[in-house]
Amino acid sequence: MSNWQELEHKYLMHTFERVPVTLVRGEGARVWDEDGREYLDFVGGWAVDSLGHCHPVVAEAVTEQVHNLIQTSNQFYTIPQIRLAELLVSNSCLQKVFFSNSGTEANEGAVKLARRYGQHHLNGAYEVISMTGSFHGRTLGMVAATGQAKHQQPYIPLPTGFINVEYNNIEAVKSATTERTCAVMLEPVQGEGGINLPDDNYLKMVRDWCDQKGILLILDEIQTGMGRIGTLFAYEQYGIEPDVMTLAKSLGSGIPIGAILAKYGASVFVPGEHASTYGGNPLACAAAYATLKFILDNDIAGNVREVGQYLISGLEGLKQKFQFITDVRGRGLLVAMEFNSDIGGSVLKACLEEGLLVNRLKPNALRFMPPLIISNDEVDEAIGILDEALSSVV
Ligand SMILES: Cc1ncc(COP(=O)(O)O)c(C=O)c1O
Repeated sequence: MSNWQELEHKYLMHTFERVPVTLVRGEGARVWDEDGREYLDFVGGWAVDSLGHCHPVVAEAVTEQVHNLIQTSNQFYTIPQIRLAELLVSNSCLQKVFFSNSGTEANEGAVKLARRYGQHHLNGAYEVISMTGSFHGRTLGMVAATGQAKHQQPYIPLPTGFINVEYNNIEAVKSATTERTCAVMLEPVQGEGGINLPDDNYLKMVRDWCDQKGILLILDEIQTGMGRIGTLFAYEQYGIEPDVMTLAKSLGSGIPIGAILAKYGASVFVPGEHASTYGGNPLACAAAYATLKFILDNDIAGNVREVGQYLISGLEGLKQKFQFITDVRGRGLLVAMEFNSDIGGSVLKACLEEGLLVNRLKPNALRFMPPLIISNDEVDEAIGILDEALSSVV
């Protein structure tokens, strides 16, 4: 164990089960550790490094901004924030934006917005319906929204106003809806909860139900947005439009930023009702603008569709070969491989030894979320390493 890892154990709270690698440099889809060892990165900062590590357009935008203006406070107008909001609005179905620093914070803001909407339009309705198997973040409110006992149990009592219902079950949404409901909140494809895809028409049925009841549909696109599943936003693939959408992760290609986007009608905050010290600061917005512009100008979502399909076929090939692989599922570059026993950790370790970084989604599953600029050749390399790793664990 390197000295850095010993120091980490000494000084940092033990909240992460870290892989014993200390990373010091990154470029494209590759990272290097302190001993100069190279790894192909299929973790991508947990679906964050959209343009890969230290992409020149992001590095240049940040460098230029850092010499001009880093932070002002939202008491003043700043140009990068306005340019980014305009670009997001002109490429989505939403019309108003609020910037935060992280995903959970964007989701908290979205729920606050829905509660204000409830006060204005729904006789004070405040409850949000969310799904089992979801993941919306780590703040107390978002732990209550996250329908997974393992995230909720350690923090009971949780904030009230959240009802978790079964995912992919429209009847469960309908029967949980009361005069107290102001919104339904969900991830179009569940990420951390297992890469769970919506059943045909499920999202459309939820949209129709929200319209029928006059309640808001909040889509958490923190993991699926910015091209990750092959369109700039996931909702485009499901024939629906949300009233409110949250973004973070890939938005800044590694520079922390989150966003709430809303339709005009749902954009009910007035000055003083919501704020953030750092949210939308010029530095983060310059990084996100450069990221989004690159994604749009270079049809990165198209690359995700093509390479994502290639990745899924490669993984399907491995499933044919290894009987203990029970499932390969996902869309674009958000893909999971599931096993019939808890070998996720051993496969991860074997991949690491061969120079591939992967994420253990569950004890019996791995998740792949590489940078969106990845090539078929890099996928071939990863599949080759996985093949060896899987052979070594049987
Ligand atoms: C769908 C979704 N929502 C919210 C979050 C929380 O984002 P953050 O970790 O930036 O707070 C995550 C993080 O994994 C996520 O995947």
